[in-house]
Amino acid sequence: MNSDSDLSIAGDILEVQHLLRPAGSHPSTVAGFAGLARSIAADRDRWAPLVRYDTTTRWYHRLQTGPGYEVWLLSWVPGQGSGRHDHGPSSGVLTVLEGELTEHTARGTHSLDSGAQRVFAPGFVHEVVNDSLEPAVSLHVYFPGLTEMPMHSARCSATTEDAVPA
Ligand SMILES: [Fe+2]
Repeated sequence: MNSDSDLSIAGDILEVQHLLRPAGSHPSTVAGFAGLARSIAADRDRWAPLVRYDTTTRWYHRLQTGPGYEVWLLSWVPGQGSGRHDHGPSSGVLTVLEGELTEHTARGTHSLDSGAQRVFAPGFVHEVVNDSLEPAVSLHVYFPGLTEMPMHSARCSATTEDAVPA
């Protein structure tokens, strides 16, 4: 303590808000984005009424945007899948909100139950499909926002197509 100073703080430091670092209203780390996804997942009243199922094409809805990121809500009827793709320069967090999805990667197949989260880096290639008999819903956070989603053939040659969240 500086004995030349008359300043002292009595009481609870947490009540002196102007001395605290402001809580970030937007995440900026992978852990922060995963936490954002978990908090949205827990707020079922926010996302469940928005979900639509489309048997002719995959349904998606941009739920939220923030500085440098986007949050998308996706539905998957049984049999629907993304095809093999990466996410261009975007990293992401995939969270299953309802149902079950299957993810195929170069390292194997992952069964993703409700609540499961997957974090991926730019260039990560995967295919997501609803192999179950029930519809599924997932939440996808992309940072930066998705600008391209190159599709890959089984031989992993890429062709760039419009950015459709997956
Ligand atoms: Fe994806």
